Amino acid sequence: MMEQAPQGVDPLTPNTARMYDYYLGGKNNFQADRELAELVLTVLPDAREGVRQNRALVGRVVRHLCDQGVTQFLDLGSGLPARENVHEVALRHAPGARVVYVDNDPVVAAHGRALLASPSRVAMVEADARRPEEVLGHPDVRSLIDFDRPVALLMMFLLHLVPDSDDPRGFVARYREALAPGSYLAISHVGSDVEPERIRRVAEFYKQANAPFCARPGEEVAAFFGDFELIPPGLATGLGPEIGWPFVDPEEVPFMNEQLARMGYAGVARKP
Ligand SMILES: C[S@@+](CC[C@H](N)C(=O)[O-])C[C@H]1O[C@@H](n2cnc3c(N)ncnc32)[C@H](O)[C@@H]1O
Repeated sequence: MMEQAPQGVDPLTPNTARMYDYYLGGKNNFQADRELAELVLTVLPDAREGVRQNRALVGRVVRHLCDQGVTQFLDLGSGLPARENVHEVALRHAPGARVVYVDNDPVVAAHGRALLASPSRVAMVEADARRPEEVLGHPDVRSLIDFDRPVALLMMFLLHLVPDSDDPRGFVARYREALAPGSYLAISHVGSDVEPERIRRVAEFYKQANAPFCARPGEEVAAFFGDFELIPPGLATGLGPEIGWPFVDPEEVPFMNEQLARMGYAGVARKP
């Protein structure tokens, strides 16, 4: 576990990136992160499994989009390095792939830079996803991503950390506009309507963290896709292999658990 905080990092405020790392079994977290994560687990015992499912889903989505011929990935709210990072999956399935990670957390950015062995194809940008002009105009984004060609824009487990007051509908629309036809938008998002009482209590706990927890109902998650066309079967309720989407990874099937709470929504949509 990280017990010595790097300069400029507040180890006493629970941090959403480091809590996510804790749920995933990572070591990049402090006591405050672990304590709040454990509190969340008392009301949502499936949170750890849900987060793991989301992480596996990220890999399946990237692989699926490589199979569709997409080679450019812009991963907003990329998180701390974990198993099967986007560039590892993308470079395995599309050897010429280019990946830009964007996160507004300085610790995530520092770990990301340290991880990148292939700076000519992969970059880590420290920026705020809520400011699309800064992200889209960033020199590292512009040098790796050609916006005249299809791009896969990933917002996996990001938007439920953005309150409505920051206008997520507006900035997601701005990203959609910037993409060429044939691009894809992938979103996973914690749902507020599946387990509303438990999710409300989790949101209360997150008031202690560095970002709020803003789960949303399915129709609001679907609205983020605008006029992009959701790939069948549409917005999925759930994140795990049971949703059979975008395909089932045979290695995951033995771990399917019907009892799991369906804590999230996920969709991938194509720009016509
Ligand atoms: C829950 S993690 C998800 C990581 C990864 N996308 C995944 O699905 O495995 C969310 C990440 O979003 C980042 N984040 C939160 N708000 C952000 C913002 N406004 N701009 C950029 N990154 C943000 C956090 O720092 C964290 O690393």
